[in-house]
This record gives sequence, structure tokens and C-alpha cells, in this order.
Amino acid sequence: MKKSMTLTDNRTGKSYEFPILEGTRGPGAVDMRSLYKETGLFSYDPGFTSTASCKSKITFIDGEKGELLYRGIPIEELASKHSYLEVCYLLLEGELPTERQALELDLEFRHRAFLPEGLVKLFDLVPDNAHPMSIMSSGVTALSAFYYEHLKLESDDDYREMAHRIIAKMPTLAAFAYRHSIGAKLIYPDIDRSFSENFLYMLRAYPGGKLHLDPGGHREIRKIEIEALDTIFTLHADHEQNASTAVVRSVASTGAHPYVAISSGISALWGRAHGGANESVIEQLKMIGSVENVDKYIARAKDPNDPFRLMGFGHRVYKNFDPRARILKQLQDQLRDELDLDSELMRIAQRIEEIALHDDYFVQRKLYPNIDFYSGIILTALGLPRSMFTPIFVIGRTVGWVTQWIEFKKNTEEAKIARPRQLYVGP
Ligand code: CMC
Repeated sequence: MKKSMTLTDNRTGKSYEFPILEGTRGPGAVDMRSLYKETGLFSYDPGFTSTASCKSKITFIDGEKGELLYRGIPIEELASKHSYLEVCYLLLEGELPTERQALELDLEFRHRAFLPEGLVKLFDLVPDNAHPMSIMSSGVTALSAFYYEHLKLESDDDYREMAHRIIAKMPTLAAFAYRHSIGAKLIYPDIDRSFSENFLYMLRAYPGGKLHLDPGGHREIRKIEIEALDTIFTLHADHEQNASTAVVRSVASTGAHPYVAISSGISALWGRAHGGANESVIEQLKMIGSVENVDKYIARAKDPNDPFRLMGFGHRVYKNFDPRARILKQLQDQLRDELDLDSELMRIAQRIEEIALHDDYFVQRKLYPNIDFYSGIILTALGLPRSMFTPIFVIGRTVGWVTQWIEFKKNTEEAKIARPRQLYVGP
């Protein structure tokens, strides 16, 4: 029997039937595409809290259970057993790579990590101290000029080349944006280094390619640091129809260049309610300053007349816990002894966490620490500057944006321009 839902307009007594679509997991959806045509009414759903904007086979989240799957594989398994590179392959191709496929992708990313020299000249036009996020969104828009041919993609190989190119170049763009922002000479990628290692290298090396000198001598990038960063990239790789991905799909629907769509995603991610929260968490912990001040700020977060919010808390979809946050909390504990985790920041964060997990305000609203609550402390311990936290989110998320862009383009059933309606209440 076909499942459907009947809506009755009690002004006219007329009833209308709408099909119910079932997915493979999670809630189904009422197919409302004919709502306006049949009833002359729009649906009203600001913030899309109840609207499925597409069908997707990429990522699944069960917010009540705190479950996140990429292509059906739990995030816990991916974060503990697979590299970010393998996760990129999984998202793009739908299955994990063989050893040979992973090796080929690794080599390709190393070769494609270089930026066109013309783009590098653009950095000279940007003021010193520019936030790396503004350079990244402009830089990715500029890449659409260098690879204009990606506007017309025909074969699977065309799609793949476009996707690999942008994923491979993003760490270089982020590292260059940072070095420019501090007035330091740019360090080019080193093809002898892997994806995550190369990013740390481009941030840290001195001109000529040498790394920092410790009192004990020359310091190479440590394996534990590379693995921690790789895990952070994996945890950010995709998150179904979040705000920035919805923007990427919206721009895709207009027929614009894929890199312009991704640049729009970067801009959307920058905000504090989304990816910008990781930078704000550390700013907020520093502002709180000491464990004694925590109660005062918790009271402010609970006050309905105060706009202050606890950064790194709450999520539109997760209403139990954020599985990415749980993995990062474990990683934080592992790193505590190995790396120089800022103990005062850690103490403040722990106190906030303890209070919030038991306080009625947070419990009733199902507000739990999200990924951004823990990532900032780990990134600080890796010696990464605060202005780079959101760019790091961008590097990890690029594969998700580009995979969602491709899925949108290939699904002709949904190839309609994103064009919401409104409820006019003006004069
Ligand atoms: N601190 C204090 N109160 C909060 C917070 C918070 N961080 N988040 C939500 N609330 C309250 C909010 O005031 C509201 O209370 P009431 O019902 O009394 O009006 C209730 O909880 C529901 O909030 P909402 O704004 O309707 O929830 P939303 O689903 O629209 O927003 C959110 C989700 C993530 C934007 C929001 O929780 C928030 O602003 N959190 C802080 C920023 C943050 O950490 N963002 C990172 C999200 S995870 C990374 C990513 O994927 O982007």
C-alpha cells in the first residue's frame, strides 16, 4: 500500500493527499512538491527545521542516538582505523579504497597540492592581518578562473579531477593565507610529505624548509601530531545538510562553477553558529579566564535577556551527544600527556562541561558539547593559531562539499533552482 498523509484545509473542508517517502534509515518525508499547485498555500519552515531538501546517499545522522555514518560506516570506525585520505575516497567513490587506490590518491594529492602562481600573486593585494577565512573564500573563487573548464563536466573522470584538485589545494591555500596574515614568507608544499603532515609543515617551516629548532636540536613533525590532525579532518569531512552544505547545493542549483559554490560554503561556515564556533570557544574560555568565573558565565548563558551563548554547546540535529565530540574528548585525554595541553583552559572547559551536563537548563534543552568544544583545545596543543581553526574545518569539509555538489549535479530528478517562497507580511 502506498503511504500518504492527508491534509485538510478547514477553511474549505477540502482534503489533499501527499505521498510519504521512505529512506533507508531515519525519518521518512512527506513529498510536498505539489503543495502550492494543489492548495495555493506554501509551507512555512524558517531554518528548515522540518524540511528535507534532497535525497542523499552520502552521510546519515541519527541525532537522538548520537550516530554519524559516512556511506554507512560509523564515524568511530573511520576515525580509529582509517586515514583522512581513505575517508575522502570513501565519500567520493562510495566505498573504501584498496591499498593501491589509497596510494594512488595520496600521490595525486601530493602532486596537485601546488597553487597556480598567478593565484599566489593575489595574496599581495590582500592587507596584512587579513583573517585567513576571507583569503580562503576569495582564493577559492579565484581558482574558478584558473580552472574555468570545470564549469562543464562530462565524464566521471572530469568530476574526479575537479574534486581532487580542490581537496589537494585547500591545505596549501589555508597555510598561505595564514603565513600572509603574519607577514611570513610562503612555504611551498613538500611532495615527500603526506596530506596532513604537509599542512603542518607549510605552517611551521622556516624559509628553506627547516622546521623549528628546540633547545634539544632539530624538531621534525611528530607522528602523534599528524595523526591527531588527520582525525580532526576525518571528523569534519561531511555532515549531511548543514548550513554551509545547503549553501553549496543552492549555488550548484544555479549552474555556477563548482569552486564558486565551495567558496560560498566557506563563507557560510565562517559564522560563529557554524564552523566559526571553534575559534569562539577558545576566545570564550580565555575571556572566562579562571574556574572561579565559570558560574557567572553559565548564569549569563541561561539568562533569556542576555544574548550570551556557550560556544561549543548545542546542535540542531544532535539531541543526545555529538559522536564527533566524544571521539575528540578521548583524543584530548590521549594527547594530554604527550602534548602541552593548556591546563587552565582545560580546567575551565571541564568545569563548564560538568555543570552543563547536570544543569536543568542544558539538560531540558538537550544542549551537549559539540565538536567545536573540544577541537580548539587540541588544535591549540598542536601549536595551531586560533585564526586557523575554522580554515582547518574548511580543509576537512571540502571533500563533503564537493561530494554533495556532485551528487546534486548527477541527480537530475532534483535539478531545480533552489528558490524558497515567503509569507509576505509587509505593507
Ligand atoms: N548556550 C546557551 N543556550 C543555548 C545554546 C548555547 N550554546 N544553544 C542553544 N541554546 C538555547 C536557546 O537559547 C534556546 O533556548 P529557548 O528554547 O529557551 O529559547 C534553545 O537552546 C534552542 O536553541 P536554538 O537556537 O533554537 O537551537 P538551534 O538548533 O536553532 O541552534 C546552534 C543550534 C548550534 C546554532 C546553537 O545551539 C548555538 O548557537 N550553539 C553555539 C554555537 C556552536 O557551538 N556552534 C557549533 C555547532 S557544531 C559545528 C557545526 O556543525 O557547525
